[in-house]
Amino acid sequence: MKGEPRRYGFATRAIHAGQSPDPTTGAVNVPVYLTSTYVHDALGEHKGFEYSRVQNPTRFALEDNVAALEGGLSGHAFASGMAAIQCLLTLLSTGDHVVVSRNVYGGTYRFFTHMLEKYGLRFSWVDTTSLEAIDAAMEERTRLVFLESPTNPLMEITDLAGAAEVAHARGALVAVDNTFLSPALQQPIALGADVVVHSTTKYLNGHSDAVGGALVAARQQESEWFYFVQKSAGAVMSPFDAFLVLRGIKTLPVRIERHEASARRIAAFLVDQPKVERVLYPGLPEHPGHDLQQRQAKGFGGMITFDLGSYEAAKAMLDRLEVMSLAESLGGVETLISHPATMTHASVPAERRAELGIGDGMVRISVGLEDVEDLLADLDRGLAAV
Ligand SMILES: Cc1ncc(COP(=O)(O)O)c(C=O)c1O
Repeated sequence: MKGEPRRYGFATRAIHAGQSPDPTTGAVNVPVYLTSTYVHDALGEHKGFEYSRVQNPTRFALEDNVAALEGGLSGHAFASGMAAIQCLLTLLSTGDHVVVSRNVYGGTYRFFTHMLEKYGLRFSWVDTTSLEAIDAAMEERTRLVFLESPTNPLMEITDLAGAAEVAHARGALVAVDNTFLSPALQQPIALGADVVVHSTTKYLNGHSDAVGGALVAARQQESEWFYFVQKSAGAVMSPFDAFLVLRGIKTLPVRIERHEASARRIAAFLVDQPKVERVLYPGLPEHPGHDLQQRQAKGFGGMITFDLGSYEAAKAMLDRLEVMSLAESLGGVETLISHPATMTHASVPAERRAELGIGDGMVRISVGLEDVEDLLADLDRGLAAV
């Protein structure tokens, strides 16, 4: 492609942004630059590449690509989603305060409470579906509002533009973990966010074969800091993983369409099952965040949570499945099914899980790309065992 890919549509950007043909050979894919260092032409003269923690062409291609998809200024790729979140939190200093969606990924909760509180950062866990609650939680030293929408696994939807307005009025930054929807469905920077967070492990890669993370900065100040942290703290993504994520992103738009089409069928099936007490899927008209999500995103995604009422019921169903894989993670081509209370959210204390409504009978599905009839038959088989 010639010219600036950002003026093209999303699918075109997914395939081309950040990826000019290799200048030496014309190779259509960015090579995996497996090099730790680069030879200087002469003392004081080099080609802009000195050491791979700081500069690597494969990682740069992915970073430019993700920035173009999210409509941001710069992308920054890390060894995991948690490493990306760690970099984000280095914007803060001891004594600073963060307002966080009360039901974030369990690892994010663990990192904030068990590690960062030790360094004097303070967190308020807030029902961010209420803009009034966000506003009420803001303090003099609130520097960051950290949002997940939809949340994991309760599928709570936050009004991102409204939250950005509240945060900015108080001088705080807004970061949105966009892992669950991906930029194919939701672009938080266009809604006012300052930073977008990704576990690229999930939909961006899409093939469950590499752990990684990314930040996209909307403003110069955060962009420069994130480059500095990548260079100084060094938890950057490897060139090979960057290649895998770039390759995965090329099919993101078509994958997401299929994930969502199947998720809609599965959610409708679950709603009709007498053994299922509750189905949480924003695509269902009765979901409390349905209208908001319809306004602020292009779709509802491929994640569904449902409640079977007890640990025993959830276990009976999960143990009977044949097609769906019982595993943590999400966003891959294969359907993954998990039990948040003992898996993704095991690090959240039991009382807190109960308070939030993450029950022991709760099951979360990341709907994959298999034939939906096979997935429905699998759930039918599983539910028969309850
Ligand atoms: C919403 C969300 N954010 C962040 C992470 C952390 O990403 P990683 O596992 O790549 O470190 C996860 C992982 O499951 C997640 O689901």
